[in-house]
Amino acid sequence: MSNDDTKDMVETVDVSPRDPDVPQASGGDVFRQLLHQAVRVADMANSQAMRMALDFAKVYEREQGVRKEFENQLKQMTLMEKQATRYAEDLAGMLRSERERRQELERALEQERIASEELRRTGLQGISHLLLAATIKDRTTGTHLQRVRRYVEAIAERLGLPGELVEEYGYSSVMHDVGKIHTPDHILQSEHHLSDDEFSVIKQHCIDGEKMLGTARFFETARAIAREHHERWDGKGYPDGKKGEEISLAARIVSVADVFDALTSKRPYKEAWSAEAGLKAIETGAGERFDPEIVAGFVALAKEGVLERISSEVAASEGDEQPGSSAK
Ligand SMILES: [Fe+2]
Ligand SMILES: [Fe+2]
Repeated sequence: MSNDDTKDMVETVDVSPRDPDVPQASGGDVFRQLLHQAVRVADMANSQAMRMALDFAKVYEREQGVRKEFENQLKQMTLMEKQATRYAEDLAGMLRSERERRQELERALEQERIASEELRRTGLQGISHLLLAATIKDRTTGTHLQRVRRYVEAIAERLGLPGELVEEYGYSSVMHDVGKIHTPDHILQSEHHLSDDEFSVIKQHCIDGEKMLGTARFFETARAIAREHHERWDGKGYPDGKKGEEISLAARIVSVADVFDALTSKRPYKEAWSAEAGLKAIETGAGERFDPEIVAGFVALAKEGVLERISSEVAASEGDEQPGSSAK
C-alpha cells in the first residue's frame, strides 16, 4: 500500500470538532474513539493490502503459467530442432554412402568394360593370326574375307539387327573357313573335279573350324558360322543336313555373302562372274540353297548400289596390310 492510500484512509476518519449540541465526551472516550478509528483504518488498509496481494498473486500465477507454457514450448522446439538435425545428419550419411556405393559400382563397371575390351582385342588379334594362317594355305584372299564381312554386316543391318549383333556377325564371318588349315593342300588346291572321298575331306573343314574356335563366348557365333556355312535352306547341305531356321541366322547370311563373293571373284581355276550373273545365281538359289528373306535383302542392297560400293571400297584398301594378302 502506498503512502497516498494510507493518507486517504486516515482522512476518512472523522476527527472534526464535536457538535456543540452533543455532550462533551471525556478524555477516555476520545481515546477509545480514536483507537477504534485507528483499528478501522488499519483493518481497511489490511484488507486492501490483502486484495492487492491476491490480485498480484493471481497475476503472478497467470504469468508463471504462461512462462511454464513458454518454457515447455521452447523445450519442445529444442527437441524438434535436435531431431530435425539428427534426421538431416542421417539423410546426409545415407546420401554419402549411396554416392560411395554408386562410385564403387561405376569403378567396377569401368574395370569390367576395360577387361572385356581387352578380351575383345585379344580375340581380334587371335582372329587375324588364324586368318593369316588360313588364307596363306587356302586360295582365298584377304580381300575376299573383307568383302564377305562387309556384305554380312550390310545384310544384318538391313534385316534390322541391333548394332552389336551386326558387328559380331561381321567379325565372326571372316573365320568361316579357318578349318581349312587342316585340309591337305592337294585337295584344297585341286583344280579337277573332287572325288567323293576328297569331298568328304573338304566337308571336314566345317567341323574342324568349329573345334578350332574353342569354347569362349566370344567365338560362339563364329563357331556356328564355321559349322553351318555350307548348310542349305532345303536341307541338302553339309555337314549336318540342317534346314531352314535350324541353321543359325548368322550362317544363313554368311552363306549368301560367301557364295556371291566366290562367284564374282577370280580364282586360279575360274574367271570372275559379273555382279549381275552372281546376283542371278543367288536369286535362283532362294528357297533352295538360301533363306529367301536374306536373298530379298541382298537383292535390295544390290539395287541400292551398296554391294558395288563395298566392292570398290575394299579394292581401294587393297594396298593396306591385310591378313592373307600375300596369298593373292
Ligand atoms: Fe567353307
Ligand atoms: Fe569363303
